[in-house]
Amino acid sequence: MYWKPLVPALLAGSVHAGSLRFSCSQLVVERLDPLVNPGLLQTPHVHQIIGGNSFNASMDPGIAPAEASTCTTCTFSEDFSNYWTAVLYFRARNGTFKRVPQKPNVGFEQANGGMTVYYTPTIKNGALKKGEVTAFKKGFRMIVGDPSYRTKTEAAKFRQLTYTCLENMNTRTGETVDFPAKPCKVGIMVNVRFPTCWDGENLDSPDHMAHVAYPSSSTFENNAPCPASHPVKIPQLFFEIIFDTTKFNDKSLWPEDGSQPFVWSFGDKTGYGNHGDYVFGWKDDSLQKAMDANCNVNCPQLNTQSIATGNQCAQKQKVKEDVDSWLTELPGGMPVQ
Ligand SMILES: *[C@@H]1O[C@H](CO)[C@@H](O)[C@H](O)[C@H]1NC(C)=O
Ligand SMILES: *[C@@H]1O[C@H](CO)[C@@H](O)[C@H](O)[C@H]1NC(C)=O
Repeated sequence: MYWKPLVPALLAGSVHAGSLRFSCSQLVVERLDPLVNPGLLQTPHVHQIIGGNSFNASMDPGIAPAEASTCTTCTFSEDFSNYWTAVLYFRARNGTFKRVPQKPNVGFEQANGGMTVYYTPTIKNGALKKGEVTAFKKGFRMIVGDPSYRTKTEAAKFRQLTYTCLENMNTRTGETVDFPAKPCKVGIMVNVRFPTCWDGENLDSPDHMAHVAYPSSSTFENNAPCPASHPVKIPQLFFEIIFDTTKFNDKSLWPEDGSQPFVWSFGDKTGYGNHGDYVFGWKDDSLQKAMDANCNVNCPQLNTQSIATGNQCAQKQKVKEDVDSWLTELPGGMPVQ
């Protein structure tokens, strides 16, 4: 089933009341995935990663990122979590690939790429009742989306993984589940919303998904209840990633058959394989405090650092690899299919 579009006001960044909302700059762009391929130094496809600098090929769930990290790229400086997605490439008519740069969101213009992260405890405004939402705990991780999906039917398993064709930097309507079919004036925003119900016991699961679930009917945005199997309400984790496609918008550069030219780093030209990964890493109970206060962009309950300070936390690739020139194939030799 296709999910109902949300009320635009709920998504429009600057007026998004009741969501902890912040910028995290790029930590590194490389082929690493400690959830899907733990320990592997060059995983099949490229990711863009943000957050704490303890990010590594193996991330032992017993070691808290807040203890192992010495800095974070996020503006809330107690957040040493890692968040990552794949990256976009433009495929030229001659078959070569060029990575599509990322750009910061409205209000976070100084950021070096990265993402905007939201944690929304509930959809109503005002203070929360104690225990109304349970913040993620040390060792928690999850994935949403499946990079092998290539059809609308498959993608419907995940309710809220979408693309916004940005007419301007404030466009927040017209989300699609596949890549926008036409050039988008200022870029493509990728929206990754995670499920909001937890089984209350498991910090992870073999597929990194089974321990969380969507509300039993409808969506989080409609305040729908959690299913009995996953009764604990967790915040809605949501990423916005803006890919700056402006250099590639000239239709004479697009495929002659009229299709769109962007492919995910995992070889998906449909967009249905959109996915995101999360490793919790907030210090102590700072996230729970922010949730209980129903914090917004400004959160006196949390420590804040400047975007410029966050930019400085960038890491070097563990294995040096050119992911940015015009490439004859996607990094890792990922086929487009
Ligand atoms: C990453 O892991 C390697 C060994 O697996 C270790 O030598 C290195 O210190 C780790 N880096 C960080 C930032 O934890
Ligand atoms: C392929 O096309 C792109 C975009 O037009 C161009 O920048 C690049 O130099 C071309 N590469 C080759 C090998 O022709």
